[in-house]
Amino acid sequence: MSIMKVASSLIAASLSISGTVAQVKVPPNFVVGAKWQIVIQNTIDISAPIAPTDAVVWDLDLYHVARTPGIVNYLRSNNPDVILVCYFNAGLAQTSDCDYETRWKNSGLLGNIYSPDEPQFSDERWINIKNETARNWVKRRITLARDLGCDAVDPDNIDGYLNDEDGNNGTGWNLSESDYVNFVTELATHAHGLTTKQGFSMLIGQKNAPELVDQVGSVLDFAVLEDCKTLNDDEDYTFCGDFQTYISAGKPVFSIEYPSTLGDQDTGVCSPTGASDAQYAASCDTTKGNTGFSTVLKIQGGDGELNGCTQYCYGEAPGTGVVATLTDPKLDGAPCPPEASQ
Ligand SMILES: *[C@@H]1O[C@H](CO)[C@@H](O)[C@H](O)[C@H]1NC(C)=O
Ligand SMILES: *[C@@H]1O[C@H](CO)[C@@H](O)[C@H](O)[C@H]1NC(C)=O
Ligand SMILES: *[C@@H]1O[C@H](CO)[C@@H](O)[C@H](O)[C@H]1NC(C)=O
Repeated sequence: MSIMKVASSLIAASLSISGTVAQVKVPPNFVVGAKWQIVIQNTIDISAPIAPTDAVVWDLDLYHVARTPGIVNYLRSNNPDVILVCYFNAGLAQTSDCDYETRWKNSGLLGNIYSPDEPQFSDERWINIKNETARNWVKRRITLARDLGCDAVDPDNIDGYLNDEDGNNGTGWNLSESDYVNFVTELATHAHGLTTKQGFSMLIGQKNAPELVDQVGSVLDFAVLEDCKTLNDDEDYTFCGDFQTYISAGKPVFSIEYPSTLGDQDTGVCSPTGASDAQYAASCDTTKGNTGFSTVLKIQGGDGELNGCTQYCYGEAPGTGVVATLTDPKLDGAPCPPEASQ
């Protein structure tokens, strides 16, 4: 490549970056290091006091928010500038989704179950993201999120290509990395075209999928990572560092670590002193490419995973920072409002 070509591609890149920044209107408190909370297993209990009160960013399940309309006011009554991120399963449809019966169930757009190795998720099936109807239904969820008062979306499972590598057909759709790049890029364009109730652009994040950072990082607004230090895996690699480009661009990276000693997997009850000293140290360590990340510790596996039991990294002091956000599982099955099913 000639120097001239390098220069012109750099200019093109910076133009497209500034173009993106100009279009996306981000709330001023959505910054690197913002304190966050994520509770997506059960619906948060809106009759209980908010905990923690100083979490600025809340990541909750889109369909919990749909089924419990009081959630948005509950969070805003504590902090009017709270940023509500609505999680949904973008790569799969699951039976608890409000639009499952009405749209996905008999659509012919559902492939294989999430993973034969994880039968607990067998109510989730990979969707055919190469089909325009499927993509439009996912975009409809983003519009629903905006209509419900969410400020951002956290579309999960955008890495189905990992199941389809090397001639495998794990999703049932033979999906490639570029299929997911196209999918996520289309979702980002759709999100950014929406204005939230707070008057900002609808934001959209990258969930895991480090292979995609180079291709979608510039069009997404934040990232949500699970176990990026790979502490729960025998494999000796980390992918936190791949997301430093987000931090450099002023985009927050929200990370979750899963120390097994934090609490009881089955009941979801937190140990009052949180994770063991060794696991706390490993989870809160900031030398693994995760400088600047907003980190929460959550119970690993079971019904407690990604639920209320949480530990924050307070001054690297083990035994501190434990917070139990109360949840009310009775709310999970509340009826879906009609607009969430369509
Ligand atoms: C996408 O899926 C819908 C619903 O199953 C189907 O009607 C349509 O023909 C599909 N489109 C393509 C291009 O295959
Ligand atoms: C992939 O799996 C699906 C579902 O089992 C099947 O219908 C399809 O024919 C398979 N495709 C390939 C290319 O093997
Ligand atoms: C799967 O898709 C790739 C392109 O992404 C294609 O090259 C390959 O032939 C497909 N495999 C099958 C079995 O259809």
